Amino acid sequence: MENRPLEYDYTIAKMFMLTTIAFGIVGMLIGVILAFQLAFPGLNLILGDGLAEYTNFSRLRPLHTDAVIFGFTLSGVFATWYYVGQRVLKVSMAESRLLMTLGKLHFWLYVIVVAAAVYSLFAGVTTSKEYAEFEWPIDVGVVVVWVIFGMSMFGLIGIRREKSLYISVWYYIATFLGIAMLYLFNNMEIPTYFVTSPAGESGIGAWYHSVSMYAGTNDALVQWWYGHNAVAFGFTVPIVAMIYYFLPKESGQAIYSYKLSLLSFWGLMFVYLWAGGHHLLYSTVPDWMQTMGSIFSIVLILPSWGSAINMLLTMKGEWQQVAASPLIKFMVLGSTFYMFSTLEGPIQAIKSVNAIAHFTDWIVGHVHDGVLGWVGFMIMASLYHMAPRVFKREIYSKSLMAAQFWIQTLGVVLYFSSMWIAGITQGMMWRAHDEFGNLAYSFIDTVTVLHPYYAIRGVGGLLYLVGFLMFAYNIYKTMSSRPVEERELQSASPMGA
Ligand code: HEM
Ligand code: HEM
Repeated sequence: MENRPLEYDYTIAKMFMLTTIAFGIVGMLIGVILAFQLAFPGLNLILGDGLAEYTNFSRLRPLHTDAVIFGFTLSGVFATWYYVGQRVLKVSMAESRLLMTLGKLHFWLYVIVVAAAVYSLFAGVTTSKEYAEFEWPIDVGVVVVWVIFGMSMFGLIGIRREKSLYISVWYYIATFLGIAMLYLFNNMEIPTYFVTSPAGESGIGAWYHSVSMYAGTNDALVQWWYGHNAVAFGFTVPIVAMIYYFLPKESGQAIYSYKLSLLSFWGLMFVYLWAGGHHLLYSTVPDWMQTMGSIFSIVLILPSWGSAINMLLTMKGEWQQVAASPLIKFMVLGSTFYMFSTLEGPIQAIKSVNAIAHFTDWIVGHVHDGVLGWVGFMIMASLYHMAPRVFKREIYSKSLMAAQFWIQTLGVVLYFSSMWIAGITQGMMWRAHDEFGNLAYSFIDTVTVLHPYYAIRGVGGLLYLVGFLMFAYNIYKTMSSRPVEERELQSASPMGA
């Protein structure tokens, strides 16, 4: 009995894998539409008067960002937690009926809240705060889902057999606490329906409408403290959790330095929270806060590179695996893109560089080398590692996976390189002036120059989406093929675990 391997229950992990794929397709498809709308503005009105309201750039943009953040990325975080959590804590979800019920509740409430969010954004209901567009009824739903996730996570930790918490669990816990804190503080809002105006009117506005509890500069500060840390606790911390589990498992190599992983953990926790000011350089925010934002951004290179170098050194002496395995390729290139965007970000946070970069496409380029090259690659790699183990089937096609890797890598390179050129051109043209101080270019001049780069970005995005569809197909075919025993799977792959 003691020697029999534990039978883990992957029901919830599988459900979240499916939403990761579904929201990934929707979110990225909208991203591609947006990219082509920017290149060819006529596409905004292509559906005619009746539907153009729902499909123009401004209506679709928050749908893209929220679908990829709250749909694709969060589903990936949940899917991997329900897999990794059981394995590193040496306990099965099936051991507790309560945990299984919480897991299912977590999934279904999450789907309902996402559906309500999509509906409200299509309807044009928004607080207009970036990444925090949802109105208060949906915010309440998000909080309920998050509390249930927390109960399910800490419930599993509570009944664990393995007493020491593997580093990935630290990162998952930090994700839970970080997002809870950010979401609550930034979404403090007053439903206007329940307030009485100075003229004595009550019930102003629609029942779901609200205003932020903060005003002016304070509102901006809280918003970008949230926005930047959404990058920390959505796009960094849980993805590091994934790579610390999946890279050692897939490569059969122990993590290079456990101490370094802890050091960078505390570094990330401490430094990220103070860097949000870099989004508000040259604004009305007090100057010392802007400088603090810049300085903490530079310091952030240390813990970010600490994690990335740790991941890359895990492959020390085993580099031949990068050539041999498409899955290792995804993870190694993912860590490299992480290094890349965490060097680019601090450079953009230097005040004099930000004077050129802010409001330009260089920022959009920075965002997407991080999210496509790091977040997207790592989530897909994690699901690829999980699929044979949760469905008890061989991966359908390794060559399809390899082809996908190259197509998507080309897509990311086209995306960020076109946005770098576009952004720096834009920034330089906006500043150019003659000897009398008159601006050398009007806004429309920059728009004309940018057109080819926007088209190239569209093509890059399309390639990434095509690769994602190949991924979805590969997983679908894996799910629907003939089951094999887990033992057979392990002997088939010397690195299987
Ligand atoms: C050391 C780490 C990082 C630093 C210091 C940093 C710094 C910056 C700076 C200075 C901006 C531009 C602000 C502006 O002028 O508008 C920015 C924007 C952004 N970065 Fe980073 N970045 C880092 C890592 C990352 C990573 C790894 C990702 C994603 C995986 C990311 C995602 C974003 C996003 C989404 C925005 C755009 C926010 C917006 O304006 O909507 N960043 N970052
Ligand atoms: C097929 C892939 C994708 C394409 C073609 C694409 C395209 C776009 C476009 C055109 C924009 C608007 C840029 C603007 O307003 O100028 C955008 C914004 C954004 N996208 Fe994507 N996207 C893709 C995938 C993703 C993924 C997977 C994520 C996150 C996991 C993501 C996160 C974001 C964010 C955070 C922004 C806001 C950036 C900012 O405000 O600076 N995108 N995307």
